[in-house]
Amino acid sequence: MSEVRNLLKTSGYSERAIEYYENHLNVGSLDNPDAQYMFTGPCGDTMEIFLKIASGIITDAKFQAIGCAGSFTSGSALTKMITNKTLQECEKLDENDVLNHLGGMPEQKVHCSRLAVLTLKKAIEQFKKKE
Ligand code: FES
Repeated sequence: MSEVRNLLKTSGYSERAIEYYENHLNVGSLDNPDAQYMFTGPCGDTMEIFLKIASGIITDAKFQAIGCAGSFTSGSALTKMITNKTLQECEKLDENDVLNHLGGMPEQKVHCSRLAVLTLKKAIEQFKKKE
């Protein structure tokens, strides 16, 4: 087992979260995104989300973060969860949905899923204003 995997496991990250972290799931950016938003949470970590949207459906989602493993696992989970979902469905998501998808997070990292959700909501909000 790699040292990083071992560290994440002993910190309380789920197997799914570790897998996302190791594979950098959906980490990156999109050319000419329909929505893009960068948001800094109260902890000082920053996330940027890029969305492709067609007929009210998110067809592709990527993110970048300057942050902790919690922000990366949350960003991966959220971008996976919202792909091929309607904007309406995505607007209803909250941090508990992200935590459930991941199978939990270390207690002190629960707020990281909020950063991902807030960044998404701001991106959608801005997209709707543009329309
Ligand atoms: Fe800030 Fe994780 S500690 S997002």
